[in-house]
Amino acid sequence: MRRPVRIAVTGAAGAISNSLLFKVASGEMFGKDQPVILQLIEMPGRMEALRGLAMELEDCAYPLLHTITLHDNVEEGFNNIHYALLIGARPRGPGMERSDLLESNAEIFTRQGRALNDYANRDVKVLVVGNPANTNALIASRNAPKLSPSQFTALTRLDHNRAKGILANHTGANPRNIGRIVIWGNHSTTQYPDLHHATVLDEPVMNQIDFDWYQNVFIPKIQNRGAEIIEARSVSSAASAAQAVVDHMRDWILGTDAGEIVSMGIVSDGSYGVEKGIFYSFPVRCDYGRYQIVRGLDISEWGRERMRLTEAELLDEKAAVNHLLPPETEASH
Ligand code: LMR
Repeated sequence: MRRPVRIAVTGAAGAISNSLLFKVASGEMFGKDQPVILQLIEMPGRMEALRGLAMELEDCAYPLLHTITLHDNVEEGFNNIHYALLIGARPRGPGMERSDLLESNAEIFTRQGRALNDYANRDVKVLVVGNPANTNALIASRNAPKLSPSQFTALTRLDHNRAKGILANHTGANPRNIGRIVIWGNHSTTQYPDLHHATVLDEPVMNQIDFDWYQNVFIPKIQNRGAEIIEARSVSSAASAAQAVVDHMRDWILGTDAGEIVSMGIVSDGSYGVEKGIFYSFPVRCDYGRYQIVRGLDISEWGRERMRLTEAELLDEKAAVNHLLPPETEASH
């Protein structure tokens, strides 16, 4: 048996964690031979709910669940962690725009970035789920100068999985047989779900679907799926978000399937002409705990325009929080 890994989860008593933690404890994320220590973090007023959740986890008697610790502050909760799943954020209610959340979440992610810098393991891998996820990842990363920005990621696997599920439903294919979908840009309504490289049973998807459906039905459906779920449930997606977190981390750590492409919000190195330094969703492959951008995909002018639109939104978000960001240091490159 391996040595246990330490995983911190913020917003640990929330709806996403309520699905997620049972998957992590049962080995779905890190593999069936990897024991886990869960360092669960919540706001002080939510500690009773968290205690209840910890009791339920204990009552499952998971062989891989080594220890659970509960914390009401990130400084303690991030101690020595190998992985951070940053789920807690001020949630969006019906009719609220993601940009409304920028400032209130900037404060939360500034503190979390500092705490990761000071208390986490030097190799910590961070996934930001709380919205606006891409810009929250930027804020956390900029506040952690001892860590590389490449250790921070933002969740766009939920959009990727949505695209796969909805395309499977439309074409009658099994999701398992659909590959090479790409989500470009922000986890927001400007994202560009790109099917130009996608395949169903190794055949190009674009030969099997109507362009009009792709442009006028599929793309807006993926872009607005989060809001549509909020309208229907009055709360954000939870179980599907938890599944996406598992998929993102599992692929990052254990590697993507041969030939497969997944989407991750990562710091831009300028690939595909995207401005360096923002957290933008790219097509990636993972191996041995590292991700690499898939280069050389052909992008039409039509696609470029969409990529630029979502880039522009991320630059606007960055500008809106810029006064809160510490100056860039050498170590943060
Ligand atoms: C989702 O995509 O379901 C969420 O990010 C929606 C939201 O803004 O909370």
